[in-house]
Amino acid sequence: MFPDPLFDVSRDIVLITGVTGQLGGEYAKTFLQRGARVVGLDIRRSGTGDALGRDYSNRYLFLEADVTDRRSLERTLLEVERQFGTPTVLINNAAIDSPPSAPPEENGHFEDYPEASWDKVMDVNLKGVYHCCQVFGGAMARAGKGAIINVASIYGVVSPDQNLYEYRRQRGEIFYKPVAYAVSKSGILNLTRYLAVYWAKKNVRVNTLTIAGVFNNQEQAFLDAYCGRIPVGHMADADAYNGAVLFLASPAASYMTGANLVVDGGWTAI
Ligand SMILES: NC(=O)c1ccc[n+]([C@@H]2O[C@H](COP(=O)([O-])OP(=O)(O)OC[C@H]3O[C@@H](n4cnc5c(N)ncnc54)[C@H](O)[C@@H]3O)[C@@H](O)[C@H]2O)c1
Repeated sequence: MFPDPLFDVSRDIVLITGVTGQLGGEYAKTFLQRGARVVGLDIRRSGTGDALGRDYSNRYLFLEADVTDRRSLERTLLEVERQFGTPTVLINNAAIDSPPSAPPEENGHFEDYPEASWDKVMDVNLKGVYHCCQVFGGAMARAGKGAIINVASIYGVVSPDQNLYEYRRQRGEIFYKPVAYAVSKSGILNLTRYLAVYWAKKNVRVNTLTIAGVFNNQEQAFLDAYCGRIPVGHMADADAYNGAVLFLASPAASYMTGANLVVDGGWTAI
């Protein structure tokens, strides 16, 4: 069942934040299929998560928690330690973004971008990762073993390309991809480097995974613009990043820390 020791995660305890979302469930399945115990954390449950609970009842645990609330993470850690032990892999995957259907001021001009939206996005996307690293990463450092994967975005490495949204402006909307998401994801890059150095001697590796857009039935005009811009010519499937998270968590990446693994269909190559 586990032919390659390089990618053996069967003894791992993998904690995934934002597990209820489009990609979190994919990551959970990837590790469960390889024998790991998985803890999914989110502020909401889903049918997919419940199915995982049924299929892998003795190895999958869903815990409701909010990454912006350190106390709820401390309670989560106690429960994980009671049921499985100290996590050995942490995937900081939970994040929020302004959906294309958000109120006009959220997707409007930078000059009018609401402070409350800035605070909310920073709270989840950056402070949430800092809290999770403090609580779960701290436990890993005490145990002397761990791998942390902080999920960023192409928009944390380069600016959102506002030309993509020209089709919306042409039809009379005021639409600019907002600032906070991009800045929060950029912050992930140096939080990763800081912690990689800080925990280097504690055997806790910390890396960023930078990913590009995932197909999710977006409107055709957006798909045309996006696929015209990205070198590979198509958006990622939801399972496109499973190999990358497995690699970063596994012995294959044992000498890798403080790095940014970019899996983006060539978006940042041009
Ligand atoms: N999907 C993409 O196109 C894409 C592109 C680049 C980067 N990413 C990144 O990948 C990661 C996953 O993206 P996704 O598309 O699966 O997102 P998603 O919106 O489908 O899922 C995010 C999950 O995080 C949870 N969440 C939100 N706030 C939370 C909180 N305070 N505490 C705990 N959980 C919370 C949500 O309930 C949701 O289930 C994110 O970090 C995202 O920024 C996604």
